[in-house]
Amino acid sequence: MIPYGKHHIDEDDIQAVVDVLKNGLLTQGPLVDAFEKAVAEYVGAKYAVAVSSGTAALHLANLAAGVKAGNSIVTSPITFVASANAARYCGGDVFFADINPNTINMSPESLKDVLSKNLNVRVIIPVHFAGLPCDMASIKAVADHIGAVIIEDAAHALGATYPNGKRVGCCENSLMTIFSFHPVKAIAAGEGGMITTNDETTYRKLIRSRSHGINKLDDPLHVLAEAFTDGERNPWYYEMQELGFHYRITDIQCALALSQFKKLETFINRRRELVKNYDLAFSGMKNFHPAQMSGRDQSGHHLYVLSTDFKKIGLTRSQVMKKLKEHGVGSQVHYIPVPMHPYYQKLGHNMNNYPNAQDYYNQALSIPLFYDLTSDEQKKVIFTIDKIIG
Ligand SMILES: Cc1ncc(COP(=O)(O)O)c(C=O)c1O
Repeated sequence: MIPYGKHHIDEDDIQAVVDVLKNGLLTQGPLVDAFEKAVAEYVGAKYAVAVSSGTAALHLANLAAGVKAGNSIVTSPITFVASANAARYCGGDVFFADINPNTINMSPESLKDVLSKNLNVRVIIPVHFAGLPCDMASIKAVADHIGAVIIEDAAHALGATYPNGKRVGCCENSLMTIFSFHPVKAIAAGEGGMITTNDETTYRKLIRSRSHGINKLDDPLHVLAEAFTDGERNPWYYEMQELGFHYRITDIQCALALSQFKKLETFINRRRELVKNYDLAFSGMKNFHPAQMSGRDQSGHHLYVLSTDFKKIGLTRSQVMKKLKEHGVGSQVHYIPVPMHPYYQKLGHNMNNYPNAQDYYNQALSIPLFYDLTSDEQKKVIFTIDKIIG
């Protein structure tokens, strides 16, 4: 079976992990720092903080941005639930802005409508869906009107660039950007996440809150009488200065992530090639088209999503997925819109407010896209799709 997505592990990756197991520190060691430095330098941000998952990154980012009971965030309905849940962990309310049907990203116009409703929005969380960068300049202009902070969810978009050529993660139009290193993403750490920022206060807060809220770096101490004896710092002494979490990533995971990171451009170039092949092969087909119709030149190409009118072709999506599976071709749906989940329904969300997201969801089908997909496998995917829905 050809899956819709898969990681690629080579001998260098295996050796990097074995080296840590044989010689290194298992948890927070030099490879965490090295991975943070490598990503910060690559994306063009001053600071990077590595954590245990993309979800942990979102949680800490919401916390650092001041999300709490009484204020709220706005994100896209077409994303994984984690983009919205992180604000709920902090007690904040969640609202959604509909998508642009051409890019499947948050529409700045829809965001403007939502913000006009005085919902005490503190944070906007645009999601670079499938690796395609959002229209950040427009989103920033809308957010600035109410002084909202932006956290970019770039879980899909490591390696993607904005129209001006800068890399996603540079935080040119945001306070923070988060990444995920879950195995189907651009690079794998097993599980892992990262937050990038250019703001030193935010960086210091993130470093503390990933490790219980204990003072780190050269944070000033609060209780000097306990901290010092005869003018010298007590060697055992530390302070938990605020409520934090245990979201640390290990050196084992960072060894893998760093080794994978060296191959990022190779991974993305192959994905780009595969996307071109699909686009070319599908350009003449009348029953479906790529869901993201514009902007994919700058994408990290995390997913290839087709859009098809299942009613028109006389097959349900479930029937199509089963038929593909019978022919050895995996497929998936990204995503069930977040406001559609029972938890968010109970909070009063209604899909009628997001007609573009609803249309997209009705028609979406992700097909195989990953570094190791061979030309023969891709030909098989194209042939099978043509046979079933072409
Ligand atoms: C858009 C988006 N944001 C956040 C996450 C959470 O990342 P993680 O699985 O590393 O916690 C995911 C994971 O799939 C995602 O797709």
